[in-house]
Amino acid sequence: MTTKVVPGQLVASRDAAQVAVEAATRMARALRNAVSKSGRAAIALSGGNTPRAAYTLLAKESGLDWTKVNVFWVDERAVPPGDDRSNYRWAKATLIDPAGIAAERVHRMPAEVPDLEGAARDYEKAIREDVELDGDGIPAFDVVVLGVGDDGHTASLFPGDDTVDIQDRLVAAVRASGAREARLTLTPPAIEHARQLFILAVGAAKRAPLERVWSAQGNVHETPARIVRGCRGIVTWLIDKSAGGLAD
Ligand code: 6PG
Repeated sequence: MTTKVVPGQLVASRDAAQVAVEAATRMARALRNAVSKSGRAAIALSGGNTPRAAYTLLAKESGLDWTKVNVFWVDERAVPPGDDRSNYRWAKATLIDPAGIAAERVHRMPAEVPDLEGAARDYEKAIREDVELDGDGIPAFDVVVLGVGDDGHTASLFPGDDTVDIQDRLVAAVRASGAREARLTLTPPAIEHARQLFILAVGAAKRAPLERVWSAQGNVHETPARIVRGCRGIVTWLIDKSAGGLAD
């Protein structure tokens, strides 16, 4: 028998709609608290399908002063911003436009440019300008939203890639591989220093990768989402019944 210990708080909901409600409520609370404490907040958004419903609800949350919130991305694919596979496109449609977030607060990851390494360096500069540093001198996002891929990836940190070992940069370029386009991604230190991580996983296909993240045995090279185990902040898992729970 393998031991599993969920690193952080597990919020198991009956279905995807309830996961979205739980996620939006908690993200809004974290952002409101940051704004009232520091006068500003910073959130980093993942792509994928799962968080879209949560972003739609987050846009409707009341009492959140979006003029004080800087919006960044966890990762982005090398596609134009209007492309169906663009993480920016979906966040714009579900959150940024409906909430009326001003352009100067929106920090799109430009992964479609030819010089991805340069774009990664510039994006790190933008993060350092607008995200409060923690005691280690690392920018600490108030909220980082993550998903878990069926193969155990998170952000654009994929199994077998050496990006999981990066410690000296906050943003990295990810080479194209097979059918997968090149990407930009936050690196482990940028994710681990988050004040709050919200990890959303919905559907039966997430059960196996979640087990691999929660298992006492395993490593970040095979299952990059295990990097969340090193998070210094609060980790909250928002999952539905079919993704798993602790009942079995
Ligand atoms: C991306 C992501 C990625 C995502 C997972 C889960 O751009 O692809 O940020 O890490 O969170 O692949 O995606 P789903 O929510 O679609 O399952």
